[in-house]
Amino acid sequence: MKNFISVKDVADINALVAKAIAYKANPFADKNLGAGKRIGLLFLNPSLRTRLSTHVAAQNLGLEPIVFNVDKDGWALEFEDGAIMSGNTVEHVKDAAPILGNYFDILCIRAFPTLRNKEEDYSEEVMKSFIKYAGIPIVSLESATLHPLQSLTDILTIKECLPTVPPLGGGGGKPKVVLTWAPHIKPLPQCVPNSFAEWVNAWGEAEFVITHPEDYELDEQFTKGATITQDQDAALKDADFVYVKNWSTYTDYGRIYCNDPKWMLTEEKLKLTNNAKIMHCLPVRRNVELSDEVLDSANSIVTQQASNRVWAAQAVLAEILKNK
Ligand code: CP
Repeated sequence: MKNFISVKDVADINALVAKAIAYKANPFADKNLGAGKRIGLLFLNPSLRTRLSTHVAAQNLGLEPIVFNVDKDGWALEFEDGAIMSGNTVEHVKDAAPILGNYFDILCIRAFPTLRNKEEDYSEEVMKSFIKYAGIPIVSLESATLHPLQSLTDILTIKECLPTVPPLGGGGGKPKVVLTWAPHIKPLPQCVPNSFAEWVNAWGEAEFVITHPEDYELDEQFTKGATITQDQDAALKDADFVYVKNWSTYTDYGRIYCNDPKWMLTEEKLKLTNNAKIMHCLPVRRNVELSDEVLDSANSIVTQQASNRVWAAQAVLAEILKNK
């Protein structure tokens, strides 16, 4: 693995998940793999889980992590080729990235979408620019369209929970995994649902259903292969795993068209499922996206899911280090 930007960078999802599970059992198995090497963690946006889990994962491998909050402490970066920099941006990525490439052995970047310009966001200019100019492996800590470390964790958590799931509700020998839209007060990126859809489809070991209100269709390049319905109750029927997440509109980009509380996942809706495990990437708006009862119930695996972020990150960093 050279970079980790999407599922396309992964040769074998199950092998990578197995590696993550092995690190969970033995966190320091490769404690010298990164000795004498430095990893930069660049944040253009806030984070709790991604920042800390990647930091811990790096240290477990003997890497020296350095975190830099670009949004608060760095110069405003310009990404447009040929830009006349007479506005607010101070430094071009083609000047900054090669320097970072000399300071570090691996560079990890979080850069959310603006949600103002779909073409710009979906071009993934930030990640592509760092890959082009840094000259070292780049790991996405969540980009404009995808969150691959989260999705690897999600598949890991589903696999880990499979033995505890009651006889599969979806039939066909595969777990029924449902991604359901939930209300939110702010327009959020499509990264987590895009990425989850892309990974579950590539994994191919689940009956995958996406449910959302009218006008909340995601980009087909990620969802193709899933069953998509606007009937949440039908989608939830016999589900083994329910992934709850808000996203803003994709077609008429970055808007909130619906905030109907009836889409919030409640105890009542949980009864439609096969006693499903409940997932969310966090942070979560309690009693907006998910009710307290569901989040605090035995069905919720959100803490396990978030804790697994360390092992997913560690597996990815180890793969990159072994190929350097
Ligand atoms: N799920 C996730 O990426 O969490 P943070 O935004 O806190 O990193």
